[in-house]
Order: sequence, then structure tokens, then C-alpha cells
Amino acid sequence: MLIRDMPGVKNKSLSNRSTEWLRRHLKDPYVIQSQKDNYRSRAAYKLTETNKKFKIFENVKSALDLGAAPGSWSEVLIKELKSPTRIVAIDLLEIDPIPGVEIFKDDFTSQKFNDYVDNSEPFDLIVSDISPNMTGHRQTDFLRSMEMLEEAFALTDDCLNPGGHFVAKYFRRGDLGQLLNDAKKKFTKVSSFKPDASRKNSSEIYLVCYKKK
Ligand SMILES: C[S@@+](CC[C@H](N)C(=O)[O-])C[C@H]1O[C@@H](n2cnc3c(N)ncnc32)[C@H](O)[C@@H]1O
Repeated sequence: MLIRDMPGVKNKSLSNRSTEWLRRHLKDPYVIQSQKDNYRSRAAYKLTETNKKFKIFENVKSALDLGAAPGSWSEVLIKELKSPTRIVAIDLLEIDPIPGVEIFKDDFTSQKFNDYVDNSEPFDLIVSDISPNMTGHRQTDFLRSMEMLEEAFALTDDCLNPGGHFVAKYFRRGDLGQLLNDAKKKFTKVSSFKPDASRKNSSEIYLVCYKKK
């Protein structure tokens, strides 16, 4: 049954959009591949591509995955890191268990989570695929995504080992400003990367900070 024909669907234009989205989703090669590879979402390939280009998994034993639900990045980390010692994933949403991953349901900016990471061993890799709730207002959404990026970047002070890497999503709607300067001082190499798996019509892009000094 088409979504627009389902009982209770009154908003025909919305249901047309949903139908179109579903059609595109089911034909999407990354969705098809994620089903074959047993990943929870097509987002997995954004991380595998980033690793292919920047070799961010080399010598990495521990990783922190921010905004991890439904969990495909953690699945990639478990599968691709050589003998991982610790992988921690956090999201506001519930994440079904992933063997070998320590999962938290919380805001990654909460005092409780920050106390937890501050009091544990630093990681070799911090990745953030955080998407804040979008309002549709360009400037507000950019500021929200910047706020998340800054909070995630702040974790690289004490929670990332020297030699470790940081990868985080942001939205290409404005200037990274001071954060980019700070990143260049703190890391050996800083790049922005749009993986092929990231939809062309999305303004998301990833900041890749390689090798903390
Ligand atoms: C695009 S999804 C992540 C997909 C994930 N990388 C994967 O591969 O399955 C973005 C996630 O960011 C989470 N998020 C947004 N704000 C957050 C916050 N303050 N703390 C923790 N998670 C947050 C959302 O709940 C959402 O699940």
C-alpha cells in the first residue's frame, strides 16, 4: 500500500513526499549495500570512506562515537579496528546493544557524561555524527550545528591521546571561524571531506583533524 493511501494519512502532499523519499531510499546503492553488509544504516559508508582516504583507523585501539544511534559507525569501528580495547557510543536515543561497545543514552554535553569521560583513559579516535534538531532556519541551524561541533571539539583537549584523530560532521552554511584556527594549531593536518555516501543535496560535511600534536 502506498503511504498516501494508508488510513489516517490526510496530508496528501506530505505523503507524496514520504512516498518519494521511500522510493529513493529503497533504490539507494548505499542502503542496498548496508543491508548486504549487515550495517544498521547507510551512514556506515561515510565513516569507511573517511578512513579509506585519511587512514584514521591505523593504530587506533579506543574510540568514542558521539551521536551514535542507530549504531552503524560503532559497528564499523568494531569490525575495522584491529584488536580494539574500548569503544564507547552515546546518543540521546536508545541504541540496541552492539557486542564490544559500551553504550550510553544521554546528551554528550551532560555533566554526567563529561565527568565520566574526564575520569577515564583518553581515546585514540573521537568521531561525531551529531545532527542537532533542525528548524529549517538557515542561520539558527548553522549556529546549532556549530555549538555541537565546538562541544565535541572541546573533548579533544583531555579525552584524545596525542597522535589521535577527530572527525565531526558540520553543516556547510557558514564559516568555522576560530574553531578552524584552533584545529590547525592542535592537529598535524585538518581537512573538510564530503564522502560520496553523503547525499549531494545535504549540506553536511566532515571536519577531519588528523594526528593530535
Ligand atoms: C545522523 S545520526 C547518527 C548516525 C550514526 N552515526 C550511525 O551511523 O548510525 C545523528 C544522531 O545525533 C544524535 N544527537 C543529536 N544531539 C545529540 C546530543 N546532544 N547528544 C547525543 N546525541 C545527539 C541524534 O539523536 C541522532 O541519533
